[in-house]
Amino acid sequence: MNMLADKVALVTGAGSGIGLAVALAYAKAGAKVIVSDINEQAGQEAVQQIRGAGGQADFFKADSSLASDNEALVQFAVDTFGKLDIACNNAGIGGEAALTGDYSLDGWKKVIDINFNGVFYGCKYQLEAMEKNGGGVIVNMASIHGAVAAPLSSAYTAAKHAVVGLTKNIGAEYGQKNIRCNAVGPGYIDTPLLAHLDEEHVQTLISKHPIGRLGKAEEVAELVLFLSSDKSSFMTGGYYLVDGGYTAV
Ligand SMILES: NC(=O)c1ccc[n+]([C@@H]2O[C@H](COP(=O)([O-])OP(=O)(O)OC[C@H]3O[C@@H](n4cnc5c(N)ncnc54)[C@H](O)[C@@H]3O)[C@@H](O)[C@H]2O)c1
Repeated sequence: MNMLADKVALVTGAGSGIGLAVALAYAKAGAKVIVSDINEQAGQEAVQQIRGAGGQADFFKADSSLASDNEALVQFAVDTFGKLDIACNNAGIGGEAALTGDYSLDGWKKVIDINFNGVFYGCKYQLEAMEKNGGGVIVNMASIHGAVAAPLSSAYTAAKHAVVGLTKNIGAEYGQKNIRCNAVGPGYIDTPLLAHLDEEHVQTLISKHPIGRLGKAEEVAELVLFLSSDKSSFMTGGYYLVDGGYTAV
């Protein structure tokens, strides 16, 4: 099924977890994919995986928290494959765990810089390239914590709520320019982001999902793929949960 035939897509944080699953899904759907990550080795491995499966991909090292890296990433996509049709702004971190009053200033800044400012920087340069190309699609990776609190992670909650707000604004501003922008809100997904948690913590998280397990990166990628394709042609400015029922309770 070539849902994304002839499309050029970029994915940030594509060396691991959800971003990797999205990059693989895009490539399988026929897109040429720019894999981007701050971790060069992981990103190169993702490219090899895509090429090994017969897909087209290239790697660009970028730190999402830097505006200049986001600008260079978009330029690389255009230079490499001629245009930019699709972008998934996925790179993110969990950040420090502390009560809001105890949250360190550096810890706060780091999470906001990567999880929120990075998404804005990405969108800013992607929108420019997409306008030149006559249209495009952006999918921003939020979280259930774009809707509900993550106790002890107020920077994460604030950043993800901000991503949802930014996404709504872009949806409102760019519909007439043939650019759609949506956000995705995964529940807890079994990726290296959760690797530091002990078994008891994981069980507590599982118990908050009515489906009774953590999600899989591929289950998030399915939604991202749908939102990136023409199958979602009347959807923009939205925020879509893929959360095993977490926010229903
Ligand atoms: N895993 C979950 O439970 C979960 C739930 C909801 C939302 N999310 C969101 O999904 C996204 C991906 O998370 P994941 O679980 O796949 O994490 P992950 O740790 O498996 O992968 C994140 C990737 O982002 C890269 N990265 C980190 N900082 C970066 C930076 N400054 N610039 C560029 N790349 C950077 C890492 O190198 C890594 O390859 C994040 O935005 C996260 O907040 C995750």
